[in-house]
Amino acid sequence: MTTITTLTTLDRIHPTVYEYEKVIIEQREDVSSRTPTQQAQTHTQVRVQPQPPSLTQRALLVHAPQQPYTLVTNHAIPSILHQDEILIKTLAIGLNPVDWKGPAYNFGLPSLPWVNGRDLAGIIVNISPSAAPQRLRKGDLVLVPSTDYRDIRKAAFQEYAVATHYNAARIPSPAHTYAAASVGVAFVASVLALGVSLGVDFRGINQCPGPDLRGVLGQIDKYMIPRDVRDECFASGDVVERPQAADWIAVWGASTTTGLLTIQLARLAGLKTIAVADIARHGAKLHAAGADILIDRHDTQRAVEIIRGVTGGKLRYAIDIVGQETATLLQSTLDTTISENGLHAHLLGLTGLPAAKDRDERIVYHTVPIKVFHSCPEVGEAMVVWLEGLIESGTLELPEIVRAEGGLEGVNEALGMLKRGDASGKRIVVSLD
Ligand SMILES: NC(=O)c1ccc[n+]([C@@H]2O[C@H](COP(=O)([O-])OP(=O)(O)OC[C@H]3O[C@@H](n4cnc5c(N)ncnc54)[C@H](OP(=O)(O)O)[C@@H]3O)[C@@H](O)[C@H]2O)c1
Repeated sequence: MTTITTLTTLDRIHPTVYEYEKVIIEQREDVSSRTPTQQAQTHTQVRVQPQPPSLTQRALLVHAPQQPYTLVTNHAIPSILHQDEILIKTLAIGLNPVDWKGPAYNFGLPSLPWVNGRDLAGIIVNISPSAAPQRLRKGDLVLVPSTDYRDIRKAAFQEYAVATHYNAARIPSPAHTYAAASVGVAFVASVLALGVSLGVDFRGINQCPGPDLRGVLGQIDKYMIPRDVRDECFASGDVVERPQAADWIAVWGASTTTGLLTIQLARLAGLKTIAVADIARHGAKLHAAGADILIDRHDTQRAVEIIRGVTGGKLRYAIDIVGQETATLLQSTLDTTISENGLHAHLLGLTGLPAAKDRDERIVYHTVPIKVFHSCPEVGEAMVVWLEGLIESGTLELPEIVRAEGGLEGVNEALGMLKRGDASGKRIVVSLD
């Protein structure tokens, strides 16, 4: 076949990739004999036939809750199944708290055995034809926040993973690979919390303008958005509720990776930021990130008083990234009066909200509609394109990392470090390179 001459070295090494390419070429030949209209219709309907994997890879499996991950060497390399997908050779894995919490507390495991892992950086080794003319090419270095954990092909704890092109951001240089592997899920959580749930418009950022995600969602048929996050995406669409430049926002748990990004992005969007964290440990970093007010987290009642005092009791926006207890404390710092033009106070909890009995009906409570990143291509694409720009321009300071060697074998030990808090304030990235 003529296709053989177009194959790259990587394709020759990985027959699975080659087989996939063959299918694509055959489909291209099929559609070329059709009218332009038929071709356009076919383009959106193409579904690549799954090929039986002819190569296996190393992967970490979770066999049962409360068990460490087990390394296997005969796990099938995942196949590209849809037109928007790419295949990535994993070079680095960023660890998230959910990687140990999921198995420990038995959540986020659709079946057993399962492959976990939410953040990776790697090189694109194959790409579907509809993704090719767009931003990405074979050989590109990308980072992928793998939020679609129900699709085992997309998990990070394996040597090859599938992603969609609209969930992959190009990494500007190999020097950024490890830091880039650490940032994905935290970036997604932060941008959706600010941009969708609270409604921050990122378009006005001079250094590197971002999207207006409420506007992006407004162009989409709301019934295309998964039902369980639809209300969060569309319920509080009122313009008056959206944060404006110079409004205060408080972030409890600001030293988390998600918190650090939230402080930076909120600051870039013109908000005034209050960071609650261990200031002795993380104050310098949070100050560099642009936090306007630093408050130590160890005396919680004093922290509440300081937030009330600094904002004159007028705080309208708050994000908690620690848990129910601190979300409840944060709630007590909000101005619960409803303004003349109808503005409420908004509280978002990434890891929990106040118990129902402790809530105030005048406050609007939010969660993060994380799945909109992978289920809505327009939103995913807007976010990864912005992330590319933020990294390339140096506008976003990436998390400090601890690089763990030892490949997949080292993941259990590295997760132990994360669980014990040994990497306080740093992201652990496991090298597979
Ligand atoms: N809902 C979602 O979709 C979603 C998405 C992303 C993340 N999350 C959740 O958000 C949380 C943060 O995730 P991450 O990946 O950003 O975390 P991370 O980077 O691993 O956070 C570690 C940091 O948490 C800080 N911390 C621990 N206990 C604290 C407390 N009581 N008060 C304030 N700070 C505390 C530690 O600071 P010290 O050095 O002071 O101990 C440490 O710097 C996790 O619970 C994660 O599961 C949820």
